[in-house]
Amino acid sequence: MKNRKKLTVIKFGGSLSKNPPARKKFIAELAALVKKEAVVLVHGGGPEINIWLEKLGIASRFVKGFRFTDQATLEVVEMVLSGKVNKEFVAGLLKQGVHACGISGKDAGLVVCKRLPQYGFVGEPVKVRTKLIDTLLSAGYLPVLSSLGCDAAGTTLNVNADSLAMAVAVALHASRLILLTDVPGVLDEHGRTIPLIHTCEIPGLLRRKVVTGGMIPKIKACAASVRRGVREVIIADGAGSLKQLNGTIIK
Ligand SMILES: Nc1ncnc2c1ncn2[C@@H]1O[C@H](COP(=O)(O)OP(=O)(O)O)[C@@H](O)[C@H]1O
Ligand SMILES: [Mg+2]
Repeated sequence: MKNRKKLTVIKFGGSLSKNPPARKKFIAELAALVKKEAVVLVHGGGPEINIWLEKLGIASRFVKGFRFTDQATLEVVEMVLSGKVNKEFVAGLLKQGVHACGISGKDAGLVVCKRLPQYGFVGEPVKVRTKLIDTLLSAGYLPVLSSLGCDAAGTTLNVNADSLAMAVAVALHASRLILLTDVPGVLDEHGRTIPLIHTCEIPGLLRRKVVTGGMIPKIKACAASVRRGVREVIIADGAGSLKQLNGTIIK
């Protein structure tokens, strides 16, 4: 939508579920931000999914940073992300007077994915139908997205929330992508935050295994966002302030 206000896509990492004060502060600051600019919120929920898989006696397995998602795992992923975590964000925002509307990447065929069968029911976004988000934004709602999508045949797929946030930011021509997580940014070999990373440096960071685990999809999502036209991209400390982001800028 051409005459939309400046748009920011913010992804709030599931890793922050162990930090309730950070979440509370984030929701309050987000409520202030949405008065000034258009925002789409994307959330993860890995640790909450792990808790419920364990309660239900379903083993968790990770392959190269992706959760291996069989049918039973997928059901839990969807219940936890779209049921519990998504509606907790919606409720928190409603209490701040924000008309948050929680949907998943499945709704209205929003996020179309290519299935990555080596990880089970896992997908990588290939297309985002932006109409639903544009409609919500222009009517004054804050879209809150859980990271599920469908393939072209309508099969439900688990999507990494960083990848989904990137795809949404690119498709909506967002000016900013903010990935909030449980570390102060991308850390170097000595544990120091790297203030600025150029996309050309990313392959080296991956090769030298400076960046591992859950930081891999994050940094790849940032690189893709920069290449595809998002001007401000940052991996920032979710325990910090939205007004004064601390973290790693990707250029
Ligand atoms: N170089 C790095 N700098 C910072 N964190 C890293 C790095 N390499 C791996 N990580 C890991 O990535 C994690 C963040 O990814 P993840 O656990 O998926 O969080 P989120 O739920 O926010 O997506 C950090 O907690 C850390 O363990
Ligand atoms: Mg993650």
